Amino acid sequence: MILEALQYAATVSVTGTEFRSHVRSSVSLWSRANRCTKAWASHEDNCKAFVREAISGMKQKRTAVVLGSGLLRDVPIADLSRAFDTVVLVDLVHLATVRAWLAAKGLRNVRLISRDLSGFEEARAGRTPEPLAFLRQVPYLDLVVSANILSQIGVGCQRQLEREGHAAPGPILKTLAQAHLDGLRQQPCKTVLLTDIRYAVTDRSGTVIDDGDLLFGAKSPAAKKQWFWPVAPFGELNRDSQAIHEVIAV
Ligand SMILES: C[S@@+](CC[C@H](N)C(=O)[O-])C[C@H]1O[C@@H](n2cnc3c(N)ncnc32)[C@H](O)[C@@H]1O
Repeated sequence: MILEALQYAATVSVTGTEFRSHVRSSVSLWSRANRCTKAWASHEDNCKAFVREAISGMKQKRTAVVLGSGLLRDVPIADLSRAFDTVVLVDLVHLATVRAWLAAKGLRNVRLISRDLSGFEEARAGRTPEPLAFLRQVPYLDLVVSANILSQIGVGCQRQLEREGHAAPGPILKTLAQAHLDGLRQQPCKTVLLTDIRYAVTDRSGTVIDDGDLLFGAKSPAAKKQWFWPVAPFGELNRDSQAIHEVIAV
């Protein structure tokens, strides 16, 4: 609790006003990730290995952008920093501990940008969202990694729509997921998509209590690799159920 309060206070002080309302959920993610270190390890290793493999054959390595860089747990940031001239990390919030870690490691070619990558405002206004259009302005872009952000865009926007009493958020959430997928597909450079696509909550006997589509009906591209991520192992949601997510790497 004390560490969370310190993390919160230190992060708020370095986060622009527009993004401060998101600090709490980043701190919660940080706490959960610390509690679930063992359960998440193989998912994080798989993600990092996939990115390392993707960049190993690249001839030009000028600028890399990581979307949803968050806690840098599933991103091989040291390898990216070594391989590329510039690495740009984009997220709503960059925690104080993440900033301190980057400084301590001396990764001087890493830049941090706070940005809402959802396209929510355009979609809500009935316009076609283009949440990744800003990438056109990034000079010498050779790699874009979408690092386990896609499902979280939907989760965040679903909460917002429910708070506003929106009766049927499904179509907007599907539009947002599709806009992210289309935006990645349209990049003229190499892209990596790491995302969970489905969840299942099971009890101790393995019976599925609840399951669902994390992309709200948007069609995910064919996976090159696929695995399961115990996002909430037994004891995290409650004693007798666990949530397992299916992850694809493209
Ligand atoms: C599951 S975490 C990704 C973990 C991260 N790749 C890592 O290595 O620790 C999802 C991330 O997406 C970010 N995120 C969620 N919605 C976002 C949005 N609309 N715009 C930008 N970032 C968002 C969250 O802040 C969080 O850091």
